[in-house]
Amino acid sequence: MAKNKPEGYLSAKESRRISKSNRKITNAMEKKRKRKNVPESEYLTQMHDSKNAVEFDNLHTYFFTDAGVVKSVDGVTFEVPIGKTVGVVGESGCGKSVTSLSLMQLLQRPQGQVVEGEIRLNLGDKAYDVTKMPNSELQKLRGNFMSMIFQEPMTSLNPVFRIGNQVDEVISLHDGEGKTKEDIKKRTIELLEMVGIANSDGVYKMYPHELSGGMRQRVMIAMALACNPRIIIADEPTTALDVTIQAQVLDLLKNLKDKINSSIMFITHDLGVIAEMADYVVVMYAGRIVEKGTADDIFHHPAHPYTIGLMASKPVVGKQVDKLYSIPGKVPNPINMPNYCYFKDRCEMCVNGCDGDYPCEVSISETHKVSCYRYNEENKAKTEGGEA
Ligand SMILES: Nc1ncnc2c1ncn2[C@@H]1O[C@H](COP(=O)(O)OP(=O)(O)O)[C@@H](O)[C@H]1O
Ligand SMILES: [Mg+2]
Repeated sequence: MAKNKPEGYLSAKESRRISKSNRKITNAMEKKRKRKNVPESEYLTQMHDSKNAVEFDNLHTYFFTDAGVVKSVDGVTFEVPIGKTVGVVGESGCGKSVTSLSLMQLLQRPQGQVVEGEIRLNLGDKAYDVTKMPNSELQKLRGNFMSMIFQEPMTSLNPVFRIGNQVDEVISLHDGEGKTKEDIKKRTIELLEMVGIANSDGVYKMYPHELSGGMRQRVMIAMALACNPRIIIADEPTTALDVTIQAQVLDLLKNLKDKINSSIMFITHDLGVIAEMADYVVVMYAGRIVEKGTADDIFHHPAHPYTIGLMASKPVVGKQVDKLYSIPGKVPNPINMPNYCYFKDRCEMCVNGCDGDYPCEVSISETHKVSCYRYNEENKAKTEGGEA
């Protein structure tokens, strides 16, 4: 029996050993986080470019589980410029949500920990590294400086409170100083109208279950906008909605974007959605960024075989195909990542050198970066020549 254990099998003893060593690591990290009166100097930092709202720098976020360490985000570097929308794409499980939860510091603790790297947040006159901030300080930034729209509005709204009370609460918690109850209600109604809810007085008094999915998501968006945040993270905001409602919510976000002038980090597995929204695009695969650039770079000159595969697997209106392309194989096990390019086993465009270490990032242009051996100097001529 012991001889033919399935791959990834762990005995109870091994699992106990792992969880004991995990606890040691996470306890030490939690202890550090829970200290009182942390001096500001510990998390004060400097933006590399003052035009950025957020800079992710070599972020590593791991989950210490009983089955082993899941390297959900493993060295992610990108920035969100002020007033721009950055799309983060990649298939399910590639670490998009974990990246955004690392910014909000809403990871499932104690398993989930940022083990390396910085996330610099531009507060205007200064910058903070959120990964080193104590919880009490973070609480002051969440909601009014950065806010999040989640995928499933029903699970994010409280079913036993009226919509109006829930939006009121957000305002009074983060922006309520000197405001009377009437002021707050007025602001809530204003927000509900802004997100396209016509019967705002009626909806104010309704419970979440009385609204449709699209309406609930509008309420969530109103809540996220309540305190004029500088950064809005939209984590698959339209995935749980049906297609026509999806288009309406996207339109709403697009219109709001011009009005509120915040930076948006837009997370989705759907390239079509990104094309409508984003100024810049980051493509993630298995916890790393494989390609990033402007929307034009990614949509018109995709470079990484994974991005090319994603493009090919997207249905196009007016194009007749017998069978839609799908990328062969599956994502490697996040507990046991290979030491070569993570996409190699699925790649249909391998070249010399693909057996080597994980590829470094190569600049194709000022804005366009890719991690792939096809763009290393010696292979470049071949790929460019070979592309039809
Ligand atoms: N609380 C958790 N405990 C253990 N593993 C997790 C946890 N949350 C996420 N992961 C793992 O992290 C990886 C990235 O997840 P996620 O960021 O949610 O993916 P997505 O790109 O679909 O948003 C996945 O392999 C997932 O299994
Ligand atoms: Mg997700």
